[in-house]
Amino acid sequence: MTEESEAMTLTVEEAGLALADPKAYADDRRFHESLALLRRESPVHRVEAPGYTPFWGITRHEDVLEIERNHRIFLNAPRPVLGTAEFDALNRQRAEQGIALRTLVHMDDPDHRVVRAIGADWFRPRAMRALEPRVRELARRYVDRMVELGGECDFAREVAVHFPLYVILSLLGLPESDFDRMLKLTQELFGGDDAEFQRGTTNEEKLQVLLDFFAYFQGLTEERRKHPTGDLASAIANARVDGEPLNDFDTASYYVIIATAGHDTTSATIAGGLHALIEHPGQIERLRGKPELMPLAVDEMIRWVTPVKEFMRTAAEDYDLRGVTIRQGEAVLLSYPSANRDEDVFDDPFRFDVGRDPNKHLAFGFGVHYCLGAALARIEVRAFFEELLPRLGSIELAGPPEGIATTFVGGLKRLPVRYSLA
Ligand code: HEM
Repeated sequence: MTEESEAMTLTVEEAGLALADPKAYADDRRFHESLALLRRESPVHRVEAPGYTPFWGITRHEDVLEIERNHRIFLNAPRPVLGTAEFDALNRQRAEQGIALRTLVHMDDPDHRVVRAIGADWFRPRAMRALEPRVRELARRYVDRMVELGGECDFAREVAVHFPLYVILSLLGLPESDFDRMLKLTQELFGGDDAEFQRGTTNEEKLQVLLDFFAYFQGLTEERRKHPTGDLASAIANARVDGEPLNDFDTASYYVIIATAGHDTTSATIAGGLHALIEHPGQIERLRGKPELMPLAVDEMIRWVTPVKEFMRTAAEDYDLRGVTIRQGEAVLLSYPSANRDEDVFDDPFRFDVGRDPNKHLAFGFGVHYCLGAALARIEVRAFFEELLPRLGSIELAGPPEGIATTFVGGLKRLPVRYSLA
């Protein structure tokens, strides 16, 4: 069967099942075919995938926005991301026992507003601009690393994965000696469906990864409470809500969301962004000729890659969307990659255009849960490419890129490249 005839046989049901199939996310072309079909034929689509509690797949930009705006009806708790029914049940059980992580993405108001405010000052664009020289220095270090690697490397594994982790762990104030351990834990947590990164296959083993994070950060909290150092970890450890410190679980959860959300997302964008540039050499030339396009190029890379594949919401009451009734207690999956290729919003959405303006992508979400680290992510991606491009002679693929199999956060796990770099 040719690729084309295969595309034509894709049914709406199969397209819907792709939303719950980690392997489908690793095959970019096929995945986007499924999403385009859903946007066209069934934008509020009921997915009944084996092993998962049924949910509604939301694939149009306008609908993702509408749900995110209605945060009093569409709640993050109790099912903020897609997991199997068994995994959801285990999480619920842990939550009842008071031993589950409860990060910002697990919370709704009023708790969410209060807890978000603790870190919010740190992430404001003005505070982030003060960090820029340090981020730029780190970016330069990783471009130098590419030179050391001698003109050929797996960019995803040897460069992209390290730089954002280094930035975020420096911001938190962790010692450099712990960075490798954090890298492994982050990959185990976010690459949980990909055999290469899995610690184990059982739900117990997956939860153990969370608990390991937890134990590490609990130690850090104790340390920063005794000896505050002025870093972000100290701000979290010593935060007060209604005069009381955060409890241990909420404190550890705060570190976990920042260390994890701030890492794989940005590294996936940098690797996917470089891949897009290699595939569209005319766009590299355009950027070189007009470096002032860089801020637009960064947002186009973020739209193009959309490293966060979904978040979920649960309806607190019945809600009608496009003539479909979402019942109280039912969950919706917000498909960001689909919203970001929506033909109704983006002019020629499958064109990679470093000058795209406007670019109303939803890669950072929208509304009260809008990505806390968006300003930092933009600075990191920009700094990296502003350091790389002026030094880059040529660049090409040195082998096939490979995507990670996950329904949550991901992008390329391999990007073999050959290059000349000054
Ligand atoms: C939330 C995307 C980088 C920290 C989110 C959400 C998305 C997202 C889609 C959920 C928004 C919603 O529910 O409406 C991204 C992308 C990134 C990125 C695409 C990189 C290109 C970062 C960085 C950090 C970070 C660098 C921190 C250092 C967070 C936090 C939340 C969040 C703390 C939870 C916010 C809340 O629930 O109130 N991000 N993120 N992210 N992100 Fe990011």
